[in-house]
Amino acid sequence: MKQFLNDRLPLDGVMAHLRKPLPKHINLLFSLGSLAMFLLLLQAATGAFLALSYSPSPDHAHNAVTYITNEVPFGNFVRGLHHWGASAMVIIVFLHILRVVLYGSYKAPRELTWVVGVLLLLVTLGFGFTGYLLPWDEKAYWATVVGIEISSTAPVLGDVVAKVLRGGAEVGAVTLSRFYALHTIWLPWLAFGLVGLHLFLIRFYGSSGLPKNTSEDMKTGKPFYPDQVFEDVVGMLILFGVLACAALFAPVPLEDVADPTNADYDPRPEWYFLSLFQLLKYFQGPFEILGTFVIPTVGMLLLLFLPFLDRSERKVLWKRPIAMTVTSVCVVAIVGLTILGATAPKLETQEETAQPTDEVQQVTPTDTEPEATEEEDVFDFQLTEEEIEGAKEVGEESQ
Ligand code: HEM
Repeated sequence: MKQFLNDRLPLDGVMAHLRKPLPKHINLLFSLGSLAMFLLLLQAATGAFLALSYSPSPDHAHNAVTYITNEVPFGNFVRGLHHWGASAMVIIVFLHILRVVLYGSYKAPRELTWVVGVLLLLVTLGFGFTGYLLPWDEKAYWATVVGIEISSTAPVLGDVVAKVLRGGAEVGAVTLSRFYALHTIWLPWLAFGLVGLHLFLIRFYGSSGLPKNTSEDMKTGKPFYPDQVFEDVVGMLILFGVLACAALFAPVPLEDVADPTNADYDPRPEWYFLSLFQLLKYFQGPFEILGTFVIPTVGMLLLLFLPFLDRSERKVLWKRPIAMTVTSVCVVAIVGLTILGATAPKLETQEETAQPTDEVQQVTPTDTEPEATEEEDVFDFQLTEEEIEGAKEVGEESQ
């Protein structure tokens, strides 16, 4: 059999390539990329299972998720794996970026590997944003309304992006279909294509190794197969064990079915968007666009072009004081804003918006307890009476 395959496929060549030695001193941090890949595969597998019983329509989505949780054999477990796996993926990708930055692995000739990586980060966040709406509960609905409103504040294309995402004037049936299609077709194709390209570039340039490695060290480490593969698989099994415990013992939240008329709801995004959400609170009125668009976009562009901005060849961290300072400030800011966002008190009522405008308004709770008024409105958007009636009819029909 081996001979049969060998005569037809370049198996020996592939194995010889995989057995090539890696750089010396490669440590556990070099398994983070493989763990991210494992999580992407786990998300695809658990997502495919969930899709068997899910239905992307406002009338059925919430019921379907309840059904998966309570009735489908192992449904609760698989949903748990998918839910906690998404969070784990964001954490692992974040740590992977940190490793690549701290070891200077983004530097020439690996700029393209880095750029593809940043695109993978956006795809990972895209999975989180689109998946959050699918259970169609209160938090899903209102977080999506706010998320789309924020995207609409971008200059020039903002409105178009918001309209395309919503598929109409309001978040509704078309939005849910679109998010489902993005989550289960568009983003997975993109993710697997980008991962393929990322891996090709990694194998093409070889691992960057440790900054302190000499040129001799670069070709005298352990082989990728079987040594590194074995370590990666052990890491995957441990990660799976942690996720399985989370899926068994930490229930995945599901709130009441989305009620588009419940403008009193205090929306919160998933934890990995909390830093952005918290940022909005510091920019009000004409400065709002700084929080909604300018800072996140400039931050992302700086990340994307990092290898072209930092052209020095030095990789050892203590000889790169600027890189070290900027990285520390960014990490402290992201973690700090996330904690502040997570611990901010929930709103009982919402603040009155004196003059609703076309921009996102008052997404932020205030420290003082606002008084309830008849015209409370936490966002810039205001449902018209017709829309409220329409939403009520949809609700009645689905009962
Ligand atoms: C789904 C997301 C991702 C997957 C599956 C993935 C996968 C991998 C794998 C398997 C490796 C080789 C092992 C390692 O060095 O850890 C790697 C290396 C690398 N990744 Fe990623 N990655 C992802 C996201 C990212 C992101 C977001 C960035 C940067 C913003 C990035 C930049 C890099 C770079 C520059 C290398 C080469 C490191 C070196 O040669 O030492 N990756 N990635």
